[in-house]
Amino acid sequence: MRAEGVLITGTTSGIGRALLEHYAASGAKVIAVNRRRDAELEARYPAVRFECVDVRSAEDVARLVGGLLEPPDVFILNAGINLVDNDEAFDLDAYKTVLDTNLYGVLNFIQPLTRLPAGPVPRHLVAISSLSSYVGNPYGLGYHTSKQALTACFGVWSRMYAGTDLVFQSVMLGPVRTTMYTMADKFPAWMVWLKDAFSASLDGTVQAIAAFATTRKQRLFYPWQAVPLYLGMWLCQRLVPGFFQGRKTRDGRRRRRAP
Ligand SMILES: NC(=O)c1ccc[n+]([C@@H]2O[C@H](COP(=O)([O-])OP(=O)(O)OC[C@H]3O[C@@H](n4cnc5c(N)ncnc54)[C@H](OP(=O)(O)O)[C@@H]3O)[C@@H](O)[C@H]2O)c1
Repeated sequence: MRAEGVLITGTTSGIGRALLEHYAASGAKVIAVNRRRDAELEARYPAVRFECVDVRSAEDVARLVGGLLEPPDVFILNAGINLVDNDEAFDLDAYKTVLDTNLYGVLNFIQPLTRLPAGPVPRHLVAISSLSSYVGNPYGLGYHTSKQALTACFGVWSRMYAGTDLVFQSVMLGPVRTTMYTMADKFPAWMVWLKDAFSASLDGTVQAIAAFATTRKQRLFYPWQAVPLYLGMWLCQRLVPGFFQGRKTRDGRRRRRAP
């Protein structure tokens, strides 16, 4: 069954923008939630309702959700960022910024959403998470831990709310070629090569997410080819000393001298 109405966060680029295009083309009522106005996007999709809300503001998110007269049946909580926060030294401010967006920027929706009256059809709450939940990297610690916490919360809620009108779902994405993906250039060459080899197309990703949001399944792993890649990295982190421990900065210098 296709979605009648969908709210998507972070539609100014990447996966969110491609989701907006997909749902708008399918005839669904789309609410796009962005932290900034995008005149070109708004002109191109006059039937879409654009809301200017920074997902890091709990008050603004609560006001937005509480004010929905006809709440959509699908909420795709997609907005996210990826910063290098652990290169030369641990950068607490950058780390907090990532958690504020990727974790709290999703959790800010949950209380207002659970307070909405039940609709005639199940309401799907879809978190766009990452296979990085399982595998950290030495540079983007906030990204890894934000997605790990997000996946854990949605896992618990999906079991807590099983059989109700609220369907909590997590999308565990491997690499997808977007603006965020290009940040991978900052990572070591071998990681960029692996990401390229296992990355998913934007079109395939959007089709997979939209189909998943019509089911009651708890988790989608996409693309499946990325799963062995991340499993391999997980094993290497644990079994190969120094393989992925971030002992060096990105320009190859050692972080700490041996005493
Ligand atoms: N690309 C990948 O390889 C990959 C892999 C796994 C998971 N994911 C996840 O997929 C989601 C989308 O990523 P993407 O690759 O499409 O990245 P992207 O192209 O950088 O898009 C991110 C979107 O989130 C928006 N955003 C950021 N902070 C926001 C805030 N505080 N409030 C509202 N919107 C905000 C951005 O808006 P601005 O234009 O204003 O910055 C942009 O529209 C993210 O959650 C990401 O973690 C991506």
